[in-house]
Amino acid sequence: MKNKDEPVAEANFTYWVQDTHSMRRNAFDENKVHALFDHRHKASALLIAGLRALEQDLPEPDRLFHDPVAKAVAGNHGMLLAKRFCIEAPQIQPVVAARTKHLDDLLGAFHCGHPCQVVSIGAGLDSRIYRVELPKGSKVFDLDLPIMFHRRREVLASLPIPCNVKRIEVPIDLREHDVSDAIADTVWFVPAAPTLVIWEGGSMYFDADDNRRIRSSVAKLIQNPKSRFWMDYVHSSVVDGTSEFPVVQRFMQAMRSLGEPFITGFADISHDFAKCGLTVEETVPSSVYLNTPDPVFEVYRFCVAKAANV
Ligand SMILES: C[S@@+](CC[C@H](N)C(=O)[O-])C[C@H]1O[C@@H](n2cnc3c(N)ncnc32)[C@H](O)[C@@H]1O
Repeated sequence: MKNKDEPVAEANFTYWVQDTHSMRRNAFDENKVHALFDHRHKASALLIAGLRALEQDLPEPDRLFHDPVAKAVAGNHGMLLAKRFCIEAPQIQPVVAARTKHLDDLLGAFHCGHPCQVVSIGAGLDSRIYRVELPKGSKVFDLDLPIMFHRRREVLASLPIPCNVKRIEVPIDLREHDVSDAIADTVWFVPAAPTLVIWEGGSMYFDADDNRRIRSSVAKLIQNPKSRFWMDYVHSSVVDGTSEFPVVQRFMQAMRSLGEPFITGFADISHDFAKCGLTVEETVPSSVYLNTPDPVFEVYRFCVAKAANV
């Protein structure tokens, strides 16, 4: 390493390659989980928490939402990751801010003053319960790997949980376990009650088979006519390398470097959802709150669906 032309340090590096699938083997077991897998997973959740927290730096009238705990949740690591990602792909922060607001608004309209159930698949370090006040008697089911709950408890330890909400942690490995079975095991879930199922920042990390299996399971959880499913997704051109936008290529490279590549996108979301018993009601681009003609925002979208049979 040099400081200008002056050598300041010398080192030998050893690199090795490990199949990332083998790292997942003990993902559900906190005592056996691979250290790199643990690090990778926390990094993606911290990155998203950091991108949300950057919204707090905007002047108040320009913010899409106010999150009183965002910076504490992201911590120094999350803030650093978020700022670094914004250098490669500045659009990622407004995209995450838009998805946060779209879902916060949907949740506000969904409960409409009545107790409800919220199921958050891959909840990570999400802080929605600190932004959206839920009516007394509401239940929030957070689904994630045990290692993520561990981290979540650490960062939220000093923050009181809003008293209106009963928060239930549902440990799950989404690649191995069934979503609706895991929730049924908690005994708290009432299948007939209005339920909003959220899969935020998740679909892109799972292959097409896992995506189908998870969506089919979600369809079983939203059997009340008011129940809905919200999911964000990218267009298939983002993952198959045919996107015309250089910023998408740079973003994908940054995600690969983080160890969390996007692997699944959708060309026809209504068709794919119909195969899992879901009807798409709405799909909007991530520019929904931005006054921008930049077409790159079209490839990252949010959709709302209901069960096709109710
Ligand atoms: C990008 S983060 C998004 C977190 C949160 N939804 C948000 O928007 O802040 C993805 C989340 O999915 C979780 N996840 C990834 N693979 C998983 C698996 N196999 N089983 C359960 N959760 C998983 C991660 O632990 C992480 O919390």
